[in-house]
Amino acid sequence: MGDSVDLDKCYEVVSQLVDKAGAIIAKRNETRQEFEEKANDIDLVTATDKEVEQLLIQGLIEAFPDHKFIGEEESAAGGAPNKLTDAPTWIIDPVDGTMNFVHSFPHSCISIGLKVKKITEIGVIFNPMLQQRFTARRGQGAFLNGRRICASGQKDLGKALITTEFGTQRDTEKLKAVFDNFQKLVPRVHGFRMLGSAALNLAMVALGAADVNFEYGVHSWDVCAGELLVLEAGGVVLDPTGDKFDINSRRVLAASTEELAQAVAKQLTQFYPQPRDD
Ligand code: IPD
Ligand code: CA
Repeated sequence: MGDSVDLDKCYEVVSQLVDKAGAIIAKRNETRQEFEEKANDIDLVTATDKEVEQLLIQGLIEAFPDHKFIGEEESAAGGAPNKLTDAPTWIIDPVDGTMNFVHSFPHSCISIGLKVKKITEIGVIFNPMLQQRFTARRGQGAFLNGRRICASGQKDLGKALITTEFGTQRDTEKLKAVFDNFQKLVPRVHGFRMLGSAALNLAMVALGAADVNFEYGVHSWDVCAGELLVLEAGGVVLDPTGDKFDINSRRVLAASTEELAQAVAKQLTQFYPQPRDD
């Protein structure tokens, strides 16, 4: 089945849907948004997250009735996450950076990846407030608003700008790992940045604006598109131990180079969020 997927059509359809969804998000971001709490008081969802996810899934189902979907809000509502299979599967975060969106802080995005036989073929990350559209197709490079982008090539930990997040969990062990890593790395690197969106943090590595991103607690919908973007921009995406990346592990380490990724991995206190996404 995967062999017959028309990836050009997939890209065209998803691009149009992202335009439509982006206009809704940008308009609503002009004011602070009402929200509900999901797993805890900093894991939030708004009516817009749900509406945009439905708009994207409905539009994609109309064009591709046999495709599958893993969507952040559907997974949250249904309890168990949908499983990734070999079928063409759209992995969707309708609003990544919901906390920013609630506060009208203009750093949120739609993040969508398409996997066929578990390989990511298309990745789109769109911040409609800033009109930044990051796109990648496997083997064809990474782009920002149609302009080719490249990872920085930085190898030196001492000169690295790192993106990370506190995340949306409050448990003590997780926060201890986060603080340990700040304590070890802040004195050794150029700096840390937190955009409040895992997908936009990865996009910054693809852009060459940041040199590293790592986070514990991400989900497949936070990182699917970003992984392809970083790889297509010439960067690397690994597990935070420096081993192979596992999209369901809820852990990510992306960097401009393998050397830099391994230098960061060597420093990190590890944390393994539960449950995994599979
Ligand atoms: C979260 C954001 C946040 C990151 C979390 C994500 P959401 O996604 O990307 O910055 O730290 O790991 O789950 O809840 O805004 O879609
Ligand atoms: Ca997210």
